[in-house]
Amino acid sequence: DRLPALLQRMPKAELHIHIEGSLEPELIFALAERNGVTLALDSVEALRAAYAFTDLQSFLDIYYAGASVLLTEQDFHDMAMAYFRRAAADHVVHAELFFDPQTHTERGVPFETVVRGLKRACEDAERELGVSALLILCFLRHLSEEAAFETLAQALPHRDAIAGIGLDSSERGHPPEKFARVFARCRELGFRLVAHAGEEGPPAYVWSALDTLHVERIDHGVRSIDDPALMARLARDGVPLTVCPLSNLKLCVVSSLSEHPLPALLAAGLRATINSDDPAYFGGYLNRNFTETFAALPQLGAAEAYRLARNSLEASFVAPERQAAWV
Ligand code: HPA
Ligand code: ZN
Repeated sequence: DRLPALLQRMPKAELHIHIEGSLEPELIFALAERNGVTLALDSVEALRAAYAFTDLQSFLDIYYAGASVLLTEQDFHDMAMAYFRRAAADHVVHAELFFDPQTHTERGVPFETVVRGLKRACEDAERELGVSALLILCFLRHLSEEAAFETLAQALPHRDAIAGIGLDSSERGHPPEKFARVFARCRELGFRLVAHAGEEGPPAYVWSALDTLHVERIDHGVRSIDDPALMARLARDGVPLTVCPLSNLKLCVVSSLSEHPLPALLAAGLRATINSDDPAYFGGYLNRNFTETFAALPQLGAAEAYRLARNSLEASFVAPERQAAWV
């Protein structure tokens, strides 16, 4: 069967990766030691054993605790470089990295420490690995819109290092419209816009991400499958969805990969892509998401593999004339 080799070797872009979610337990412990941080769990094995999630919030609690070891510019750089090496091995030619500055500024880590470390890693990835990269700043939706405005103000001196703005963290109870004014401001400033919607939250959150925030891509969006009018809208406008199959499995958004809506999304003509979300926590990097999803879903074959790879490159925030170098 040649499908696994095709999935692994084809050039692809990753558009939904939280860089703090690439922090492997081994690196968490190495950074804790380097920085003199004490962790609640005392071994890599104990930490891995705690990665048994029942929903999004049960994951987020552990994910924010893991990020507490990140203190210096070098820490952010080393975390991102470890991800870029894995991505290059998976034939990722371009990656758009989410980062959560509020997770760090709330602990007293300066905004510029975070962005400088990540920016330097993006430059090193391009030069050393041939992987191009962009940064997308995500506002934490469980915090206030006022806090998002403060974070935006901290980002402005680094405007050129940040391609886009996203919205992540606890979805239910924090609809996109809570951030309407700050997203409007980001739009005026020329940032590219995305938002998590329709992961655990209802299709109504996908509608408001599109119509109130005016985002260009929907992160996750799998619950759109429950709303035929929304499916038609997403297909008509060619709105990319950054789908994360292993994340959906581990956070109990789907009960098994064989029931994942990805084949139905593709069959309806939606511009779906495959991504890893938080690979250190959900059991695999990009190629593992491809191979496990295709193994569980016999409806997916070579045609869908090419479609997903092409969608990922075309849905990136890189100008079409520069995408030609990838294929
Ligand atoms: N959903 C919402 N917030 C997140 C996620 C996710 O899958 N990963 C990291 N932050
Ligand atoms: Zn995500």
